[in-house]
Amino acid sequence: MTATVEKPAQNTFKAKSVGQDIPRLDGPQKVTGTAPYAYEHPVKNPAYIFPIVSTVGRGQIKGFDLKAAQAVEGVLDILTHENAYKLQPSRSAELQLLQKPEVHYRGEILGAVIAETPHAARHAASLVRVEYDEQPQDTKFRPDHPELYTPKKINAGGEPDSHRGDAQAALKDAPHTTDAPFSSPMQFHSAMEPHSAIAEWHGEEGVTLYDASQGAGAWRAMLAPLLGLEPEKLRIVSPFVGGGFGSKGVPHAPTVLTLLAAQRVSPRPVKLMLTRQQHFFNVGYRPEIHQRFRLGADAGGKLQAIAQNVTETTSKLLEFAEQTVSPTRMMYAAPGRETTTRLVPLDLPPATFMRAPGEFPGMFALEIAMDELAEACGLDPIEFRLRNEPEVDPEKKLPFSVRLLTACLTRGAEKFGWEGRKGPAERQEGEWLYGLGVASATYPHHKPQAGCKIVYQDGKYHVQIAAADLGTGAWTILSQAAADALDVPMDDIQLEIGQGDLPAAGLAGGSMGTYNWTNAIWHAAQAFRQAHGKKPAEGTEAEGRTVNTEEAAEHSKHTFGAHFAEVKVSRVTGEVRVTRMLSVFDAGRIVNPRTARSQFIGGMTMGISAALHEEAYLDTRFGQVVNHDFAGYHIAAHADIPALDVDWIEVPDPHFGPLGAKGIGEVGIVGVPAAISNAIYNACAVRLRHLPFTPDKVLEGLAKQSESLKV
Ligand code: MOS
Repeated sequence: MTATVEKPAQNTFKAKSVGQDIPRLDGPQKVTGTAPYAYEHPVKNPAYIFPIVSTVGRGQIKGFDLKAAQAVEGVLDILTHENAYKLQPSRSAELQLLQKPEVHYRGEILGAVIAETPHAARHAASLVRVEYDEQPQDTKFRPDHPELYTPKKINAGGEPDSHRGDAQAALKDAPHTTDAPFSSPMQFHSAMEPHSAIAEWHGEEGVTLYDASQGAGAWRAMLAPLLGLEPEKLRIVSPFVGGGFGSKGVPHAPTVLTLLAAQRVSPRPVKLMLTRQQHFFNVGYRPEIHQRFRLGADAGGKLQAIAQNVTETTSKLLEFAEQTVSPTRMMYAAPGRETTTRLVPLDLPPATFMRAPGEFPGMFALEIAMDELAEACGLDPIEFRLRNEPEVDPEKKLPFSVRLLTACLTRGAEKFGWEGRKGPAERQEGEWLYGLGVASATYPHHKPQAGCKIVYQDGKYHVQIAAADLGTGAWTILSQAAADALDVPMDDIQLEIGQGDLPAAGLAGGSMGTYNWTNAIWHAAQAFRQAHGKKPAEGTEAEGRTVNTEEAAEHSKHTFGAHFAEVKVSRVTGEVRVTRMLSVFDAGRIVNPRTARSQFIGGMTMGISAALHEEAYLDTRFGQVVNHDFAGYHIAAHADIPALDVDWIEVPDPHFGPLGAKGIGEVGIVGVPAAISNAIYNACAVRLRHLPFTPDKVLEGLAKQSESLKV
């Protein structure tokens, strides 16, 4: 039942700086406001742009009336598809901006006013009139949509459907079963740093782009061909990013708009700052997802059947098939298993990766269904999970590299006081009903690739890699890792990240940054020492790349965790408050406990926010997100978040790389809404399966209950 932990085979890693609780090296810059975000890089004599966006949900542009806008003082030019630079073909239709007179969704960028001031640009943009040949738009999710289809692949490369054994027959035979629908709404990343950019077009010399990017190297590889430029002609600068969560993982339309506008007024730089409202249409979101989960267990509480049927929305402009079925395939074993994925194509903006895409919605539903089935079996939900801990990855039939879920659950139960948990609706104080809930978390390893160059100069090791720091601590932890890889004090390391012309390093995404980049740094350091020894000459250098071993490929590799939530539910208003939370993680070696803890509680906070608050309301008559600002789109505030407790079981996982660090960026959010839903059930015997868990849903559940529970 417990996972076997393998000894690192050839791991010569000795931690000195790694593992230390080191405050962020960029901390002083951050708190004094001197760490430049994209919009803050000093450029000479910039012009400002403001987007012109569609007011219809679908159609053709017949023409623009620009007279009033052009008359505004300070307007330099107006960019539309009629005068935009011709882009080269790209795989992403989202990037083919202003190339055709077509409208694909409401709020789509159709052009921009370029002006001397942001105010003139904004005012003039409001005066632009667009004449459309409007066509009926369709933005309403229907499970029986006539154009419903099965995608060829889901994100991260998986198959849309899987069938192992006979799930339907197993469900029929199982003495204990559950069968329920779940749903999660459109959600928005809402990073603290808005999407913004500065572009400068210097003719033959190329283009400079200051942008908020989760991977400047990866962005250059996508954007240079789009502009018809050699990669070295596009310089991308992104040293500090104020949160990304996936929305800054790939470039979106606003970045392309800034590049196109800069071309119009070259060599003048142009600056774009999106309004918060514009974020709800132009930089991606998590799509609306509906699921049906059926589980079956035998008399002893062993899973016999797992069936998950997912239907999710996608944009007609650009397919996005969230991998909601992925975690179901590796979490638990059963003789009969089935997962299916169907997409409903709508006239919506393109969706994108949002913190733990796939794992977040998938585990939200699976871990509530597990709680329901535990109850049906008459078992404690932790005991039920322990009984269903698989020996090997049920889908890949590979051993897990390190899977300490059992240890996370048992340690968490002890620390949280699980033993004192009462039955549903048995703990009351005045109007408040208290409950405890648990849920598992997981996030997969993604096979990464990065390069790193180390140059010895001026008595420092310059460690160059196109990594990104989204506010996560990458500047700090990569310096720690480089110091140990070279066996020198951290002061001898000069880290260089956040630029597209550094050795390509993939994304700060998929929770792979730390294990990918430290892998490349490790191998560059080995190469450097082999070539130049302990006392290198000035100007010596060496390169290294991430090594993905064959042995690693023979293991199923994941981060794990267990969330414990205590909630109180008001019988009067239906309000849910999270009063306590503890999460225990199996995330391999912890490179820096301070930044790691911060990452975990960030994920947990986002999970609580998704559980209780976050929901976009789509007016399907127009294809408009109605609550497109922070007054209407609610995000947890400080008062909504209790002191969050985090613990971890630190067993380095050698198959993630030389340091043995696993991914920590996304696992923190996975399963949190399930832990909260399960706690709500334990508090008031109301089972909630539709995010977010707002008071109306609680009250509706309470109203259906027996008199004994009512006020
Ligand atoms: Mo994360 S959604 O992979 O940036």
